[in-house]
Amino acid sequence: MTRRDYLQAMAAAAAASAVRTPAWASGGDADRAQRMKWWHEARFGMFIHWGLYSTLGRHEWAMENEGIPVAEYERLALRFKPKPNAARDWARLAKQTGQKYMVMTTKHHEGFCNFDTKLTDYCAPKRGPGRDLVKEYVEAARAEGLRVGFYYSLMDWHHPDGARCATDEQARRRFVDYIHGQIRELLTNYGKIDVLWYDVAWPLDAQGWESEKMNEMVFGLQPEIVVNNRNQLPGDFATPEQRITAGDRAWESCMTLNDSWGYNRGDDNWKPPKTAIRNLIACARDTGNYLLNIGPKGDGSIPEESVRIFGRVGKWLERNGAAIYRSEKCQPRTSNYAGFTRIGNTLYMHVYFWPGGTVSMGGLRNKVKSVRLLASGTEVKFDRDGFRLRMTGLPEKAPDRPVTTLAIECDGEPQQDTLYVRNERPRDKV
Ligand code: GLC
Repeated sequence: MTRRDYLQAMAAAAAASAVRTPAWASGGDADRAQRMKWWHEARFGMFIHWGLYSTLGRHEWAMENEGIPVAEYERLALRFKPKPNAARDWARLAKQTGQKYMVMTTKHHEGFCNFDTKLTDYCAPKRGPGRDLVKEYVEAARAEGLRVGFYYSLMDWHHPDGARCATDEQARRRFVDYIHGQIRELLTNYGKIDVLWYDVAWPLDAQGWESEKMNEMVFGLQPEIVVNNRNQLPGDFATPEQRITAGDRAWESCMTLNDSWGYNRGDDNWKPPKTAIRNLIACARDTGNYLLNIGPKGDGSIPEESVRIFGRVGKWLERNGAAIYRSEKCQPRTSNYAGFTRIGNTLYMHVYFWPGGTVSMGGLRNKVKSVRLLASGTEVKFDRDGFRLRMTGLPEKAPDRPVTTLAIECDGEPQQDTLYVRNERPRDKV
């Protein structure tokens, strides 16, 4: 291509995009704010990785990372015989854990579809399970009043065109039609769906996937849906994985509870409940969501450790959820033993390493009206000068576990200024 051809092509592309505002984007920011209201207030969701890999119990990447031949892997589909309505237990657990939405793998990279599809026989109703597992999941989530999300992997290790689509246009055409077709089925056959969670766009780019057209179709079918950014377009929210990184736009940190998404029988690297709670607090502080994963076994049962840890998180949220849901951007963040969240003029100090009878915070610039222990409502004595807030008369042992939350009601939006302490504190002999 000559430089002139290139410039002409660019100009043509710009002209085309100028006249064609994608339907899904035309509602703009106001539409997005409206669609995402529930999502922002939710803060906490359950991710579920479940597929043929769950019967192997060696991580959801077993097919790829163990180099299992397609024909051998396919045989797992016959062995996959989960108990009926396993999803009811997941949904109950999510509800008890204080999670407001669920996102389940409808198809992971292995290519097996947990849903009924006319586009392949490699799907739950036509193999071992003999029924539509996505339908069961949707019904289970709704029964508990939870929002319903679909994870869908664009990358596909099973489809014959899944890799060669990168170099063969006919293969790309077939594969993209297949993927768009399945997304259409998913968003047509199960009623209202709240989240579409694309994953791994290898080996194509947005143009190759026809991602704009994909999102246009999605919003055409489900005008109120929220979509993530993993089809190579920004979508409605960003998806930092295994880390908490606040962005300028909406974001959701997804994390495993051990080191695997799919069931991995030997993976005993479980995060303690306190870590999960601290992660949730860190997300809530910066108005992000926390999507915490379970990897059910092949029969659909949830690993005991997950049930135990989620249970602890749920109990804590029962007492302290008022500091998490609907949290707003929180400026204070410096402490050696606590994290912070904010709602209105109330600052929540979440003490995860309890220091004893006095809890202090440096650099809070506001006047303080009251302090309470959030779990019990007990008033806490405090004194404050311009540099330090001290909350006193507290028990030597942490009154709530694994994290004790203090609700600090201020006279305005809480602001912490540690530099003020450094610069202005009266010093000896100066
Ligand atoms: C990665 C992994 C995948 C997992 C996903 C969750 O993309 O490939 O196994 O489902 O992260 O975010």
